[in-house]
Amino acid sequence: MKTNKSIMDFSSVNNFAVRYLNTYYRVVDSDEVAITKFLVRQYRKINRNVEILEIGCGPTIHHLIPAIPYAKKIVMADFLNENLYQIKKWIDRDITAHNWNNFTKLALQFEGVNASIEEIAIRENKLRSLINLAHCNLMKDSPLDGYSQFSIVCCFYCAEEVGISKLEWANVIRRVASLILPGGYLFLVSLRDTDFYKLIDHSGKEEIFPSASITEKDILNLLPSIGFSSNTIEIEVEETPNMKHYGVNGIILVSAQKGGCE
Ligand SMILES: C[S@@+](CC[C@H](N)C(=O)[O-])C[C@H]1O[C@@H](n2cnc3c(N)ncnc32)[C@H](O)[C@@H]1O
Repeated sequence: MKTNKSIMDFSSVNNFAVRYLNTYYRVVDSDEVAITKFLVRQYRKINRNVEILEIGCGPTIHHLIPAIPYAKKIVMADFLNENLYQIKKWIDRDITAHNWNNFTKLALQFEGVNASIEEIAIRENKLRSLINLAHCNLMKDSPLDGYSQFSIVCCFYCAEEVGISKLEWANVIRRVASLILPGGYLFLVSLRDTDFYKLIDHSGKEEIFPSASITEKDILNLLPSIGFSSNTIEIEVEETPNMKHYGVNGIILVSAQKGGCE
């Protein structure tokens, strides 16, 4: 996608949340299988009872399902109020809220827990009780007012879609990293080497959104220079051939620990 912009300002985007859920979260796609498996494995190496932030969470809650056994508090932050509204509806059990049961089931299966309807409900209700919603802006150097730093900061499909040049992407990642306590972890997922992704509404109408074309090399170059210990950086790549029509050729999954002691 050709653009001269280096930042994607979502202020002018309308009806993102519903179109995004419709495009990417009606079924569990191969990227989400890889992310869930990755996160279940990553959480096993951290302490329990920690404070976790997901920044740029969109209208989604599912990436936090593997975090629940480890969390004492969860902050979910996004720039768009319509995204936070979709999460609020889910917390309030509004009948029009998105149904995440299949994503919860998958996480439980990867954990080796009996993924019964009752267990899915227990896990989701626990998440409802842990979530605090917040507004954030990754275009600003202080992206999240009212909070300091967290043991875990998650950022999925966001940094490369807000900072859409490599330079601005690096600035966004730096801001995300500033929210992590020394010794804390970054869990990051990025679209791989693509300059666009699509949203498709219920009528089939498409809109193209820009993305910085990030590769695993970009991530490996940046993270040590902004305080992550090189020997803690884990990077996995998942090809997603079934999602090419959305612009999603593959994804990069990252875990990295910030230097210093928590
Ligand atoms: C592609 S969505 C990713 C949503 C979710 N994390 C997921 O994994 O599906 C990108 C998200 O970035 C958010 N966003 C856009 N501009 C932002 C900004 N300046 N600061 C923080 N988040 C922003 C959007 O509102 C949107 O929810």
